[in-house]
Amino acid sequence: MIDITKSAAWARLETLQAGLRKTRTIDLFNAGPERAAAFSVEAAGLFLDYSKNRLSADARAALLDLAGAAGLESAIRAMVSGEKINTTEDRAVLHVALRDFSGRAYQVDGADVAPRIAAERVRMAAFARKFETGALKGFSGAPLDTIVNIGIGGSDLGPLMAVEALRPYWLKGKRAFFVSNVDGQHLADTLEAVDPATTLFIVASKTFTTQETMTNAQSARAWFLKQGGAEKDVASHFIALSTNEKAVTAFGIAPENMFQFWDWVGGRYSMWSAIGLSIALQCGWDAFEAMLKGAHRMDEHFRSAPLARNMPALLALIGIWNRNFEGAAAHAVLPYDQHLHRLPAYLQQLDMESNGKSVTKAGASVACATGPVLFGEPGTNGQHAFYQLIHQGTDVIACDFLAAAKSASPLGDHHEKLLANFLAQTEALMLGKSEAEARAELSASGLSAAAANALAPHKVFPGDRPTNSILMERLTPETLGALVALYEHKVFCQGVIWGINSFDQWGVELGKALAKDILPEIARLGEKKSPPTAHDGSTRRLIERINALRAAKEE
Ligand code: F6P
Repeated sequence: MIDITKSAAWARLETLQAGLRKTRTIDLFNAGPERAAAFSVEAAGLFLDYSKNRLSADARAALLDLAGAAGLESAIRAMVSGEKINTTEDRAVLHVALRDFSGRAYQVDGADVAPRIAAERVRMAAFARKFETGALKGFSGAPLDTIVNIGIGGSDLGPLMAVEALRPYWLKGKRAFFVSNVDGQHLADTLEAVDPATTLFIVASKTFTTQETMTNAQSARAWFLKQGGAEKDVASHFIALSTNEKAVTAFGIAPENMFQFWDWVGGRYSMWSAIGLSIALQCGWDAFEAMLKGAHRMDEHFRSAPLARNMPALLALIGIWNRNFEGAAAHAVLPYDQHLHRLPAYLQQLDMESNGKSVTKAGASVACATGPVLFGEPGTNGQHAFYQLIHQGTDVIACDFLAAAKSASPLGDHHEKLLANFLAQTEALMLGKSEAEARAELSASGLSAAAANALAPHKVFPGDRPTNSILMERLTPETLGALVALYEHKVFCQGVIWGINSFDQWGVELGKALAKDILPEIARLGEKKSPPTAHDGSTRRLIERINALRAAKEE
């Protein structure tokens, strides 16, 4: 396995970046009027303009060489052919198979998994149609009309994000809730809003061992039994989405009430599998299938387009440029679409759990920075909160701006204003404003020379802040599917170039294990506990303080 930082392409990128340090991005536009067209690409209903990054044609060519040196094309082939590229877990990575309607075979351990995927899809579709038509009845005989998805991480963020994104497609009279946090307030608040007689609980967990999900599922079951449901009614009010039939059965859910997926579907890549059932129930099967098909279109593009025209690969390479050569340690995702308000949270798991790694696949320390900190909020809200730092802070933050040209809810001139802000921000971030410009503006507004001089430094915008613009005609199930697939493949490409395994997540284990150890040391309310003996001094004192507070009598 090669150390990518020792490749000729890496060295060339360092040289090119040094040469570009004094170049303004706008100079790159001035040098070649065709830049906007040459630095953009279209695929699967999405248009990506990456021309507002401080990236020359030479640097782009060197990035493509870097992808070549990392063996990106053969890595893509390895993933889609079912090789066990998740080496630390000895698993294939085949979320693309879940949304492939072409009849292609996908081999895992010598067997084609496509027929199993198709069969499970048929079961899901039948169940979704029953829910839609009111044929699924609760214990009172009334149709089930409410779902509560109980899951966390990949078993929550994807479905929740997609359900929010597809709000215009919601079926009339159906409601979806998502409970993830082990904080009992999350479940309690949700249960207050639902009717036990018409609620379907969906226990979503790949492993069916996750503490938060199992605790919430047990509490939901206990609540259901207290609210008039009988043991025999659990079967019609609780279903499971999982790979672990044994644990599902042990929980008390029969296999016929379980929708399954497989270990070659990573948790954060699972919204295309049975884990997406809540999307199908809230938005209808047709919308869910259209989302899968949109993702499939992006997959087909990803598999076949040359890297120089390959949208996920290009997005990945621009990210590498900004992260490793321009020094951007953070990446903001800024959807100018209220319905995409959970996309940044979803992408946080996708990107940070995948590429937040310091060790290569070969077990050596990485020689360069890997995944950036990802955050974001819908525009325009973010503009009135954290954009200040993106414009004038000391760090370079790479940004993706997303927008749909047409709104699902046209209202006065709202959408024109939204789009104007979407465009203005990327232009402002690139152009910036010099001190001389600021001073001239202040003088023109009537300020004295002394006052203008004093204020001007505060009004300077350095500019050259890198942005991508991702545009679509409308946010539909198809474009949503394509968008999510775009980011999935981007993250994969970056992992390949950095030489890390994007499909494991060992970094979540240590905290989970420690929480299990600490749990018996936390006092029940009103209980007096002797001080803990283990742990570091800070943790010990915090446990003592928490236990003292919990032991104290309520006023
Ligand atoms: O703790 C991390 C994690 O394993 C994620 O990767 C996963 O999406 C989440 O927990 C939930 O896991 P499960 O679906 O097995 O409950």
